Amino acid sequence: MIRQLIFLGPPASGKGTQTNMLQKEFFLPHIDTGGMLRAEIAKNSPEGVRMKELIDKGNLVPTKIVAKIVRERVEKDDCKNGFILDGYPRNKEQAEALEDILKCINKSKNVEIFVINLQVDDEKLVERIVNRRLCKNCGTIYNLLYSAPHEDSTCNQCGEKLIQRTDDTEEVAKARIRTYHEQTYPLIEYYENKGILYNIDGNGSVEEIYKNIKKVIRNDQEKITA
Ligand code: AP5
Repeated sequence: MIRQLIFLGPPASGKGTQTNMLQKEFFLPHIDTGGMLRAEIAKNSPEGVRMKELIDKGNLVPTKIVAKIVRERVEKDDCKNGFILDGYPRNKEQAEALEDILKCINKSKNVEIFVINLQVDDEKLVERIVNRRLCKNCGTIYNLLYSAPHEDSTCNQCGEKLIQRTDDTEEVAKARIRTYHEQTYPLIEYYENKGILYNIDGNGSVEEIYKNIKKVIRNDQEKITA
């Protein structure tokens, strides 16, 4: 059975935290569109500069650009046995583009698609965002309130300096949450109608949420192989 996991959820709902853990345990490539766009921005290309302007205002990058990045990534060999999409799709246009991509790569394969929707109360999101710190080197995600590094501004795993994303200010966080409600939230109904949506309460502890996600993936697996 090939698992293709799609993570939905508002900014700071824990998509990155959970998908980092899943990729290690299930050996699935983690396709994080936000991270891929930030890598492009770091190259300082003219396209990267345009992307940064959009991201730092809390807007989405155009579908044409993101769909191309995702298509090229899922067509790679290491995605043949499944993958995790983190932060894609984000609107109906992207969901339709993804359907086309999956139709092409899933021909005659036994694939199970899970859309995991992390639900977190809006009032917690801004607090999580402004207190997030990241290790640029190994990708470990911290939170100054909930999972602080042992030493200020230094990664526990690799000793690298931690950074704060430029879109992790209160003002941009609020704009990102607005964009989520306007454009991404409707995808819940879209995937519910397809019968592949799994709602997970994202308000609890990281470990509890992870356990519930694994229950969904494994139970469904049992149902299919029974
Ligand atoms: P992206 O990087 O994907 O940002 P996002 O969707 O806003 O999500 P985040 O990365 O902010 O949060 P997360 O859900 O991964 O939470 P995390 O685990 O880090 O995208 C950035 C931008 O790029 C977008 O705004 C857009 O402009 C552009 N973009 C990306 N994809 C695109 C697309 N498909 N189309 C167009 N544009 C696109 O956790 C957050 C914090 O909370 C951390 O500090 C963490 O430690 C903490 N935390 C996690 N879980 C818990 C918990 N259970 N309890 C307490 N704290 C927790």
